Formats: sequence, C-alpha cells, structure tokens
Amino acid sequence: MQQRFIKKYISVTSPHFTPLNNYRIMKITVIGAGNVGATAALRIAEKQLAKNVVLIDIVEGVPQGKALDMYESGPVGLFDTCVFGSNDYKDSADSDIVLITAGLARKPGMSREDLLMKNATIIRDVTKEVMKYSANPIIVMVSNPLDVMTFVAQKASGLPKERVIGMAGVLDTARFKSFIAEALDISMQDISALVLGGHGDSMVPVVNYTNVAGIPLTELLPQDKIDELVTRTRNGGIEIVNYLKTGSAFYAPAASAVEMIEAIVKDRKRIIPCTTLLEGQYGIDNVFCGVPIKLGKNGVEQILEINLSGSELEALQQSAAIVDENCKALAALLA
Ligand code: LAC
Repeated sequence: MQQRFIKKYISVTSPHFTPLNNYRIMKITVIGAGNVGATAALRIAEKQLAKNVVLIDIVEGVPQGKALDMYESGPVGLFDTCVFGSNDYKDSADSDIVLITAGLARKPGMSREDLLMKNATIIRDVTKEVMKYSANPIIVMVSNPLDVMTFVAQKASGLPKERVIGMAGVLDTARFKSFIAEALDISMQDISALVLGGHGDSMVPVVNYTNVAGIPLTELLPQDKIDELVTRTRNGGIEIVNYLKTGSAFYAPAASAVEMIEAIVKDRKRIIPCTTLLEGQYGIDNVFCGVPIKLGKNGVEQILEINLSGSELEALQQSAAIVDENCKALAALLA
C-alpha cells in the first residue's frame, strides 16, 4: 500500500524521475566498452533512461567487468537500471536503442578520415550483428569518421533514415558553448549555439545563430575573439587527442550521445544538430550531414532548414562534399 502510494506520488509530482517498473523503454544496448561506450552506459543508467543497459564488446571480460562494476554503483548512484556486459550480440536482443561506439579511436597525427576503411568494416559487421537480434532499433552512431559511419550503419541495417542518427553536432556545439562561457565568464546554460556540417575540420559553427540569453554573440565578443573560438571548436577533438596521446575524447562525446538518447526516450522533440540523411535540403542530396533536427521517439522527426549566409551555406556544402567522397570510396565494401 505504502509502496503504491510512493510510486504514484513520485510519478505525479516529479516528471523527470522514472520510478522503478515504469520505464518508458526497456532496453538500450551500447556497442563498444571503451571509454565512450562505458561512460555513456553509466550515464544512461544514472539517468534511468531504460530498464536494461547491455554493454557489448569483443574483448572478453571487459564488458562484463565494467557492467558489473556499474551495476554495483547503483545503490550509491541511486539507480535501478540493470547493467549487463557480454561478448554475445544475442544479449542485445530486442533493443529499443543501440548506441554504436565500436571501432578505433584517433592517435596524434591522425585525421578522422584515416580511420575510414578500418572502422567502416567494423561498423558494417557490428550493425549486421545488431540487426540479427533487434527488428527496429534506433541506432545512434558515435564512431568516426562520424558522418560516414552513420551512412555505413544505415546501409548495413536497412533501417529507415529517421532511425539512424549520428552524434556530432551536440558535441561540437557543446565545445563551442564551453569556450564561449569561458571567454565571457558566464554560465554555460545561457548559451545557445549551432554547429553544422560534417564532424571534421570542415564543420561549420554558425555564429549568426549563436547567442547568450538571446543576445547575439557578435554584440558580446569582438570578431577576432569569435574567430579564435570557432577555430578552437573545429580543432576541439584533436586538442584532446594531443593531450591524451593514446586515445580521443570521451566525457563530452558520451554526454552528447546520452543527451540524444534522452531526447528519444522521453520524446522531448529537442531541436539539436545531428547527422542525418539530407535529400535536397541545403542543396545537399543523398549525403549524411549535421543539421538541426527535431529529435523524438521516432528518431529524426523533422529536418529544419534555416537561412544561412552565402559563405556558411557554401561551407556546409563543402563539408558535405567531403563526406560524400568518403562514402563513395566505400561502395565496394558495402555492395
Ligand atoms: C572528438 C572525436 C570523438 O571530436 O570525434 O573528440
């Protein structure tokens, strides 16, 4: 009686708290138990975004050990999500959402494109395994080169384009916002920013759509300082790689992927930049590229086409052209 009362009370008064046995979705699988995958799995559990989180990796013992360790943090972290690790894709069966983080990460001196062939093979095979056991998951891609890997997963899965989404814009935007917050000595929370294009050196931070509590950034910082922050954002990934030397960033990438997952799980219909298949929007056809989308329970529910300046549109199209070239280089692999 008491238990039922508490459950009812909590769900009525606190919409962000997911009481036990009242999960909106049952299962999220994270492929790859490396730094990004493990960090994302823990955040998903801590936010109680699903009843079950399954962590899968080819390395024996690692997903099992990390998942058990996370599960044992439940009583302290106050979550009831079951975290389970496995080397067997069968354990991913009937997933609602699959986060793919598998593949190699960059080392100093490597561009994201250097990973192209190796990771394309891995992502193709991983996606096929996932699809053997889940009929209609939403796939969120994190592996690099991001836009190309999103394309590979969509091709290999045969899923509708709305259900295969790449995480890059959230991360690039987060980096841009964090640098703006630092430069202005203000809360990160009040910054609204937009970074479009492929996740690479060609990404397009759109300064005209960046503001602080509605005040255009251009009124708060001189142009040379803005240029400096834009450049730092473009090089945000390699800045971390150069520090870490043996791998790439994972805290901000994992947080960004989980923000997307939360929007899907809670059907929030967030407007955030994600990588999706463009079919004529922005003058770009049949290429995966980062643009503002509406993200909800069905995945990509709308693509927003905003006005860009001539040079921004050109930069976006150039960025998409690089993605397209890399996708075409993989035609044989995906045939
Ligand atoms: C980065 C990698 C994860 O931007 O792409 O840090």
